[in-house]
Amino acid sequence: MGFSDEHSLPLLLFFLHMLCFVSTDEASNKKVSALLVFGDSTVDPGNNNNLTTVFKSNFRPYGRDFATQMPTGRFTDGRLTTDFVASYVGVKENLPPYLDSTLSIEEMMTGVSFASGGSGYDPLTPRLSNVIPISKQLQYFREYKERLESAKGKEITEHHINKALFIISAGTNDFVVNYFSVPIRRQFYTVSTYHQFLLQQAKEYIQSLCDEGARKIAVVGLPPMGCLPVVVTLYSNRSAILQRGCVEQYSSIARDYNLMLQNELKLMQPSLANNGAKVYYIDIYGPLIDMIQDQAKFGFNNVNVGCCGTGYLEASFLCNPTSSVCTDPSKYVFWDSIHPTGEAYHNLFNGIRSTLDLIINT
Ligand SMILES: *[C@@H]1O[C@H](CO)[C@@H](O)[C@H](O)[C@H]1NC(C)=O
Ligand SMILES: *[C@@H]1O[C@H](CO)[C@@H](O)[C@H](O)[C@H]1NC(C)=O
Repeated sequence: MGFSDEHSLPLLLFFLHMLCFVSTDEASNKKVSALLVFGDSTVDPGNNNNLTTVFKSNFRPYGRDFATQMPTGRFTDGRLTTDFVASYVGVKENLPPYLDSTLSIEEMMTGVSFASGGSGYDPLTPRLSNVIPISKQLQYFREYKERLESAKGKEITEHHINKALFIISAGTNDFVVNYFSVPIRRQFYTVSTYHQFLLQQAKEYIQSLCDEGARKIAVVGLPPMGCLPVVVTLYSNRSAILQRGCVEQYSSIARDYNLMLQNELKLMQPSLANNGAKVYYIDIYGPLIDMIQDQAKFGFNNVNVGCCGTGYLEASFLCNPTSSVCTDPSKYVFWDSIHPTGEAYHNLFNGIRSTLDLIINT
């Protein structure tokens, strides 16, 4: 009787087989197939490397704390938040730039970044620095799909794209590089109408990605812009050297934008749901302001200048092999006057992890 019954073993094997079949299927239903990223320098791993632009970072001291200790074109000393995300969702260790011509199809399949440092939602923003507009990033994504289709077939590609996680991170340059710095948009837009303009661009972009097969789309909000060292240096009313501190006015512009963005995403949700798509908001303002206001808790001891050079203004070509570098970048929130250190990007990843869990498990 029982397990010695001659019919039990095949039956048991059958159940074991079913169990494995069901559980692997369930697991693959939950997991994302790839990470596909669009936007600016916060998520650009080196797409600008071969462009004629000042927004580059494929030289020392950038990359000094990366695994290879080599500059890659990432605008930081280490890894970007999207690299941590790629490892976390289990697709790959680091997310490569789409324009790296050495990528194999297999490497491309698990994810790439189309992002370009200096880009933004406003078409004028990438033109100011000759970088890749997000519209062009979308074209590259279409090309990417075609390359996958010719290697793997239409059906597999479609399924693969449907299960990918899409992240869009842009908007900071529209204010810092464009609106605040160049008196073109300011002639025609108030801060409030410029917000509306950017949100309209963001919404159209989300819709285009959905039309191309994206089903999980995460949109990153703005950081506390008034805390970026370059903004403190250029726009603080107080002494930008002796009394450095976040410029509230600029951070509040980011907070207003983030509230409106969340609202717009909610409004878009029903029509996206008709296509089986869902859009999510990723808050980076909260995690970053926490690091800045509660620095000791995170092991930081410098939150208002960058580690590279004087830390007041240097970024991209101004942070270069001749620049001095702080002794311990992991004690700094900012690597250069605009971009977080790898350590801050890691903390930022920790700060968005619960949102990521929600995204990958629904
Ligand atoms: C830049 O150009 C070199 C040489 O053609 C190529 O090997 C590399 O993949 C390109 N990388 C990027 C990111 O454009
Ligand atoms: C800085 O000056 C501007 C205009 O002069 C003013 O609107 C703003 O409130 C001031 N900000 C601070 C933090 O004092």
